[in-house]
This record gives sequence, structure tokens and C-alpha cells, in this order.
Amino acid sequence: MSQTLSPNVRVTQLTEQLNEYNYQYYVLDNPTVPDAEYDRLIRELQQLESEHPELTSPQSPTQRVGGEALTAFSQITHLKPMLSLDNAFDDDEMQDFVRKISEKVVSKTQAYCCEPKLDGLAVSLLYEQGQLVRAATRGDGLVGEDITVNVKTIAAIPLTLRGNDFPDQIEIRGEVFMPFANFDKLNQRALENNEKPFANPRNAAAGSLRQLDSKITAQRGLSFYAYSTGVVNGERAAMANSHFEQLQQLKMWGVPVCPEIQQVDSLEKMIAYYQDILTRRASLPYEIDGVVNKLDSIEGQQTMGFVAKAPRWAIAYKFPAQEELTQLLDVEFQVGRTGAITPVARLAPVFVGGVTVSNATLHNRDEIERLGVKIGDHVVIRRAGDVIPQIVSVVMAKRDESVTNIEFPERCPVCDSEVERIEGEAVARCSGGLFCAAQRKEAIKHFSSRKALDIDGLGDKLVDQLVDAELIQTPADIFSLDKERLLTLERMGEKKADKLLNAVEQAKHTTFAKFLYCLGIREVGEATAANLSQHYQTLDKVATASTESLQRVDDVGEIVAKHIFYFFKQSHNQEVVDALLGAGVNWAEVHQRSEDELPLKGQTWVITGTLNQMKRDEAKAKIAQLGAKVAGSVSKNTTTLVAGEKAGSKLTKAQDLGVNVLDETGLIELLTQYE
Ligand code: IVH
Repeated sequence: MSQTLSPNVRVTQLTEQLNEYNYQYYVLDNPTVPDAEYDRLIRELQQLESEHPELTSPQSPTQRVGGEALTAFSQITHLKPMLSLDNAFDDDEMQDFVRKISEKVVSKTQAYCCEPKLDGLAVSLLYEQGQLVRAATRGDGLVGEDITVNVKTIAAIPLTLRGNDFPDQIEIRGEVFMPFANFDKLNQRALENNEKPFANPRNAAAGSLRQLDSKITAQRGLSFYAYSTGVVNGERAAMANSHFEQLQQLKMWGVPVCPEIQQVDSLEKMIAYYQDILTRRASLPYEIDGVVNKLDSIEGQQTMGFVAKAPRWAIAYKFPAQEELTQLLDVEFQVGRTGAITPVARLAPVFVGGVTVSNATLHNRDEIERLGVKIGDHVVIRRAGDVIPQIVSVVMAKRDESVTNIEFPERCPVCDSEVERIEGEAVARCSGGLFCAAQRKEAIKHFSSRKALDIDGLGDKLVDQLVDAELIQTPADIFSLDKERLLTLERMGEKKADKLLNAVEQAKHTTFAKFLYCLGIREVGEATAANLSQHYQTLDKVATASTESLQRVDDVGEIVAKHIFYFFKQSHNQEVVDALLGAGVNWAEVHQRSEDELPLKGQTWVITGTLNQMKRDEAKAKIAQLGAKVAGSVSKNTTTLVAGEKAGSKLTKAQDLGVNVLDETGLIELLTQYE
């Protein structure tokens, strides 16, 4: 069809089609075509434009690649100053905020708009007759820098507004940010090239946007959400008298707005919104550092006015800081299940991310070298969500001569065996194997954990006690425990001992996948164990499989194949396996599913919200094992949305689109049905 159209008409058609796809992707959060189709159209447009340069408009979707490098940014005076925000740190300060508003603005129900506080940088976009003509950083609020060419490379920002009822001139304000996925990719690349990674997505966004060479900006995967307007002129559009409605207008004109924004009508609901976003913070695809609450009525906003540079009608309710300063007091070395020796930082206790932290992981020797950290140093530590606290950097300016080097042990701190460091591996390992009490303990804890043999009552403390009292040495010894010996332990009564022995008996009946998982073979997680079980069906076949054969199993690469192969070659592992079987551990025959028996084949599932009974990865693996594709966002192609607790915009969207929704209980029911 394209050949029969004049180039002129085809260019217009392609531009409209590409803009429509962008709108679906960034504003509606509902992509309708695969990336490959988008790329194909872009290439066709590029081809036409290179054959007919006169048809290339500055607003063409091909113009997102960046232009000539600049030597400096020029300055731009904002048509209306860009304000900043006052902060609230607790519910009382929020109450003050609301009280001051209700004293001045009289209304029966006072509506507020609640929004995530995006952690990027503020920009102001100027559209005239629907065309993006200028973009500026906030600067000092009055004068910013001209970053128009850079901003034009950001695919989320429309070069032309949609429709025709937008104002003649409008300043659109919002945040440019880097989604975590792109931040991780960027830092990964930096590490591969021996460059310094960015400390956080905000720095990465700022560094990417303020590039004199916009071709670099174009490659950084920046995104944008609008959160307010500046000057609005012209007769065409009346802006709504509600902030929330104004944001809906922006969406209609093709400008993305954060899907988490909500209109509420009381202080209690604002606080509930804060709590909800705080618990979902780690599962959002971008960094936020609080929520912003705004009086919704624009008239009301005008009545409130502003003090200094901050409006009285808006406030940022900040999350507890995720980064804090403290001192590294000492480094201890812990031995894990596979003998990996992890340096653990002992810190002067500090309140960060909402809890008091006194330990942080230092990962391995490479990490210590990268940080250049010494004992006694002042360090920045970060605790984000439930992630283990990390040392981010050393404050060199605070270092004095009392600091000492961190010495890696030559021998295992638990069993005194030699420490091995394999070429090319960052991790140092104790060579003691199951001779090492630390490794034994961890192996047994793993063995009895919920996802493995699930021995109720055999928790970490009891395992430590049992190994220390030499009642058990290997996981298989659990099955020869008797009541008499159990009762010799401290804090062990008749009842508890009976319960434990009963649980041990119950645990003997398991599945083949769980059995493979419980052995604790390196890098064989639950999903890999399930794949092995499906592929081979019998223990004999797994134990005698070659590394080539193992690599034919889903999810198993060269390294994992070697771990499995060598595990079964070692006689002490074989002895444990035999002892387990000898003790009566058993499972029902594996029923192999054929390709067309996969019950969820051809389906697309999405998971959102908090799951309480399993990790999200686990749910994902199990759904994938039944043949479904697990995607990140809800669209009309989604078959089922699994909505855990506190599900947000994805749930609303699924309901709007009539997508099937399952809660966690429903998911578990379905999974057990196919187990
Ligand atoms: S409103 C008068 N809304 O926070 C309104 N700001 O600390 C001024 N920010 O410079 C801004 N998310 O960069 C607003 N939903 C949001 C925001 C937000 C992030 C940033 C913005 C601003 C800074 C003020």
C-alpha cells in the first residue's frame, strides 16, 4: 500500500501512526503493537525522509536521536516561576497543612490530589500551537537552562500535542526521571566498561539530561510525568478548576501523567495514600522519595498563594531517608551454605529507611576494593525497602589516620579450613564443605525451609542448637533424631519434641522437585529444581546426566549444569542422598506434562501488589511453568492479573479492561490443582 501513496502522504500517515503508538505506550500504559512493528515504521519514515529531506519536520518521531553537540546551554527565563515544595515528615505536620487550608478556604468537602514525589529533575516544557518549542531545567526557579534538544530525545514527551483543543500557549511542568530498569542497564554497562556507576537514578537522570551531546541523552532511556502547568494563554482551552482534572486534560493532549495519582477528600485518606505508596515503593518501576499532596481546587490554590518559593496549597510528605551517614566499626566474616565468605560491616547504629541499622553487607573483596573502605571510615549507608542495607560510599573528607585496612581471612573463621578464591570469581569460599559447622548449619536450615522439605518447628535457632550439641551433622541425621536426645536440649519440652518429630515424619513425603531443591545444589533454585524434575523425572537420571544433557533443561546454563554434575559426583553428597532415601524420604512419580498439556499455554499473566505466601519470583516461575508468559504491564492482551494486597493502578486498569483478576488465594488454588 505504501508504494502507491505519495511520499508526502505516507510521511504524514507514518507520523500519525507512530505518535499514536507512543501515546498508547506512555500515556495509556497500554502498548498495542510489539516494539518490532514500531521500529519497522520508524525505519520506513527515516528512509522516506532521507530520500526527501524537505519532508522532515522538526516534530517528526525520527528526530529523537539527538542533534549537533552544544558548547554550552543558554539560559531561559520561565514565563512563570517554578516553585519548590515545603516538606512534612509526620502526620502532625500534615494535619497543620490541612488546618491552614481549612482556615482560609471554606468548602464543605475539601478535595486533595495525592501524587508520588518522583525523584528526578523538574523541567518546564513550552508548547505553542501544540508544538514543543522549548524546554528548560528549573534552575533557580526563575531562570533555567535551555535543554530543548535533549528533551526532544525523550520518547515519553510528545513533540506535538494530540487533538486540537489545547491552549495556544502552555507551559507543562513535570519530572524527568530514569526508570529503574534503564538505570540498572546503564550502570551495568558502566561497570563493564570500567566506568564509575551512578549512585542513584536521580543522578543518572540529571547527568543524562544535562549532556551537551544530545545523542548521549537519546540513549539513556529517560522518561517523564507531568505534574502541573505554568503559564496558559489563548482562547481555545479553558483549563479545569481542579488540579486532578487538569492532569486528565494533559493526558488527553498526549502528555504522560503518573498512573498512581489519586483524588481524596480527607486528611485520613491522604495519610492512607502515603502508607500505601510507602509499602508499594519497592515495586514501583521508578524511584520516589515521598508523596506530594495538593489542594485540588485551582481557585483555592490562588486563595492560599505562596510563601517564599513554596506554595501554601501543596506539601511534600517525605519518606524516611534511605541514606544516612554512620561509621564502620568493624568487619566480620560470615560463612554461608555454599561456603561463601561474606564480609559484614558492623556499623554505629543509625536510623535509616525507617529502622535502626547496625549491620550492612559488603558482598565480597571486589566490593571492598571498589569502595576503598577501611575500618573507622565514615560511610554513607542505604536501606531501600526490604533490601539488605548497603554501604554506598566512603566520605573521604572525614577520614583520619586511625583507619585500618580490612584483612580478608586466609582460613575459615568457623572451621579453620583453608579459604579458596577461584580465578575470576569474586567470592572467597571456605573449603571445609560439610566439615564446616557454618556450612552444615546453613545446609540444614535450607533443607528444612518452607520451600524445601518444610519441617515445621525446625527453625534456625533449633538447627544451631542441634549442630552445636552434635545431635545432627547432615540433613539426613534429622530423620534419626529421637525424643530422648531431643529432651537433652535447653528449652525443649515433651510437647515441642513430639511436635517436631511428627513434622519430621510428615516431611518424608515430598515431591521430586522439592527433594532436588532441598539438596542445596549451588544455583539450583525452586524453578530450576522444578524444571529438572519435569525433564528427568527420576533421581537416577538427574544424578547420571552429563553436563551437555543438563544444559538442555530450561533455565540451566553451563555453570549450573556443572554445579549439578559435580554435586552428584562427590561421594559425600551421594552418601547424604542415599541416607535420605534410606530414612524413607519419598515422592510420588512425576507426571510429565507434554507441550500441549501446558494448561496456561498462550496466555499472558501479570502480577501486582504484595503476595504474602510466596515471593513474586516464585509465583512468576510457577505460572511460567504452566506455559503462560508473565508480562510487566496490563493491556487488553492480558489473560489474568494476579492482584496481591494493596494492588494499585494495574488492578484498576485490569478492571477497566475487563481482564480476569485472581487474588493470592485464587492463585494458590490454581497452582495446587496442577502441582
Ligand atoms: S509540584 C508548586 N509534584 O519536587 C508545585 N513536584 O521539592 C511544585 N517533584 O521541584 C512542584 N514529584 O522536581 C510536584 N508530583 C510532584 C512532584 C514534584 C516530584 C519534585 C519537583 C520539585 C520538587 C520540589
